Amino acid sequence: MQINLQIFENGTQTSYAVAELIKEKVKATPDGQFFNIAVSGGTTPRQLFELLGNEYETSIDWKKVRLFWVDERCVEPTDTESNFGMTYDAFLQKILVPGENIFRMRGEEIPEYEAESYRDLLLKNLPARGGFPVFELVLLGMGNDGHTASIFPNDLSLIDSELSVAVNVNPYTQQKRITLTGNTINNAHQIVFMITGESKSQILNEIIHKKPTAKNYPAAHIGNQEGKVDFFIDKPAASKL
Ligand code: 6PG
Repeated sequence: MQINLQIFENGTQTSYAVAELIKEKVKATPDGQFFNIAVSGGTTPRQLFELLGNEYETSIDWKKVRLFWVDERCVEPTDTESNFGMTYDAFLQKILVPGENIFRMRGEEIPEYEAESYRDLLLKNLPARGGFPVFELVLLGMGNDGHTASIFPNDLSLIDSELSVAVNVNPYTQQKRITLTGNTINNAHQIVFMITGESKSQILNEIIHKKPTAKNYPAAHIGNQEGKVDFFIDKPAASKL
C-alpha cells in the first residue's frame, strides 16, 4: 500500500481538511455527472457532518453529490445506533441534498435481504470495474481494534469476498451489520481514512510503519485501484508514529 499521511492539529482541523477535499472534488465533477461518495458511521465522521451541515451549505453543489453508506447497523434509522440517523441529525436535516441522491442502507430490513438489495442498488447506480461498483470517494474510520467499515479482525475474509455488500456481526456486541466488502472499498478512485484520538495511535503506528502485526487489522488491507490510501489524522492519533 502507498500511504499518503496528513497530520492535523486536532479533530476539527482534520474535519476541515476532509470537507475541503470533498468541496474540491465536487467542484471538479463535470456538469451532468455525480460525485458518488460512501460514508462511514461512528463518532469521527459526526464531527465532519456537523461541519458540513453548519458551514458548507452553499459552497458545495449538493445536487451533484450522491451519498451511499459504507456500513450500517441493523437497527431502525431512528435508533441512536443508526449511521444514517447520525448523518441525518448532524447533516442531512440541515442541507438540501436531493432525496433521490441519498442511498441509505436500510438497517430495519432483514439483513440478508438488504445486503442483496444494496448490491443490486450499487450495480444499478454506479459504474463497475471487475464486477464491483466504483465510488469516487470512500470515507472510512478505524476502530480501536483496527476494524474498518464493519469488517472486524476476527474475520478478514470480507476483505476479499466475492460479494460487494455482506452481512456481518460485531463480535463485541453481536449486533448485525451490513457492510461494503474490501473489494468494493478498494475499487474506489480515492479512499480516505479519517482517524482521530490517542486511542488509535498504537494501531496506526503498526499500519503506517507496515509492522508484521498490521496484517491482523482490516484497516491495513485497504488501498484503491493503484494501491493508494489517504490517512487524515490528528496529532493525538499520530502520537506513536
Ligand atoms: C461503524 C463505522 C466504523 C467506524 C469505526 C470508527 O459503523 O461503527 O463504520 O467502522 O468507522 O468504528 O469509529 P469512531 O470514529 O467512532 O472511532
